[in-house]
Formats: sequence, C-alpha cells, structure tokens
Amino acid sequence: MSNTVLRVDSSPRGEDSLSRQLTAYIAEQLNQQQPVDIVHRDLSKTELPLVTYGHIGAYFTAPDQRSDEQKTLLGASDKLVQELKSAQQLIIGAPMYNFSVTASLKAWIDLICRVGETFKYGENGPQGLLKIERAFIVVAAGGTPIGSEIDFSSAYLKQVCRFIGIEEVHIINASASKRDPDTLIQQAKQQIDEIVFQTAEAVAV
Ligand SMILES: Cc1cc2nc3c(=O)[nH]c(=O)nc-3n(C[C@H](O)[C@H](O)[C@H](O)COP(=O)(O)O)c2cc1C
Repeated sequence: MSNTVLRVDSSPRGEDSLSRQLTAYIAEQLNQQQPVDIVHRDLSKTELPLVTYGHIGAYFTAPDQRSDEQKTLLGASDKLVQELKSAQQLIIGAPMYNFSVTASLKAWIDLICRVGETFKYGENGPQGLLKIERAFIVVAAGGTPIGSEIDFSSAYLKQVCRFIGIEEVHIINASASKRDPDTLIQQAKQQIDEIVFQTAEAVAV
C-alpha cells in the first residue's frame, strides 16, 4: 500500500487531546510499516466556510460552466477535495461533542462530499469516487460508549467514508467510558497495532 496519508485532526485541545495523540500514533505506525508522506490538515487552525446557497449552486454547476465568483467560492472545498484525492490512506481524529462530531469536522465533511468529485449519482444510487484504500477514525469521548445507541459519531463517520468510496474503515475506540486515560491510550494503541501490523484478525467494521 502506498504512500500518502492524510491526517485530519479536529480537536482544539492541542497536546492535551487524546484523539491527536492517537492520530499521531497511527501516522507513526503506518510510516514504520512502510514509509509514507503525511499531509496534516488541522481543522483547529483552518477557517472553513459553512455551505451556503451559493456553494450548492456551484457544486451542481459543471466545472467549465462556473462563474469566477463560483470558482472563488469553491476554493476551500477544492483544496480539501484535492488533499483527499492525493491520499491512499486517511486518518480522522474525531472528538465526540454532544454525541456527535465537532462543528469543524462537520464543516469539513460538508465541503468534501462533492458531487462529481468524491461521489456521483449512478444507476444504483450514490457511488463513491475516491481511491482511498482504508480509513482510521479515532473517536474520543468522555463517557459515551463507542457503538452505543447514543454514539452518533462512529456510524455517521463510517457512512461518510463509504459514501465517498472508502470501503475499509476502522473505528478506534478512544472513549473514557469505564477507563482511565492511560488505559484508554494503551488499549487504543494496541487496537491500532493489531490493524496496522495485522497481529490479530483485524476486521474492518
Ligand atoms: C463541548 C463538548 C462536548 C462534549 N460532549 C461529549 C459527549 O457527548 N459525550 C462524551 O462522552 N464526551 C463528550 N465530551 C468530552 C470529549 O469527547 C472528550 O474530552 C474527548 O477526549 C475530546 O477529544 P480530545 O481529547 O481529542 O480533545 C465533550 C466535550 C466538550 C468540550
């Protein structure tokens, strides 16, 4: 598997962030397994626009028909889509905020789900267009158990990945539910190693 890994972080908590510790660890382990180029998109340092009526019009206008105004409007979205198109693997750090994802991560998702770019409408409905081979999604939470009926992050992010064409999606459990932070980090790293180095039967969920 080659060669470019896109790492997307959305925690605003800098070095205190559990999800960042683990997205960094995944990048290190992937690089250890096989040298990779890491592109880091830090959403806590990126000002992203929210989707407006103008964006929607531009999304559904053929690229060669877009006005200069529409091209300018799509600048941020185009850049983020290009980062995804250049990647073979994807890592997302997803702190749970109020049972779902951070606003910055949601803004990123709304800008990268682009008709004609990352998905298209086929005969059998929407079809993902990205060639990313696998995704790691670190879901960090204070107490909400990952995979429980009040976790609206994991299944949502998995669906977004599938929607844009990523079939192999691994949710890394970084919920502090019933564990202290050290145990959480240690167990999450073990889960990551099992997937990256296939030391256990790693099943994409
Ligand atoms: C605004 C806000 C909302 C939160 N909502 C939840 C929540 O719904 N469920 C939960 O288990 N933890 C919640 N937390 C706790 C964070 O998910 C937890 O601190 C996590 O470690 C954050 O990720 P980070 O360490 O990468 O910043 C919330 C924290 C904040 C600041």
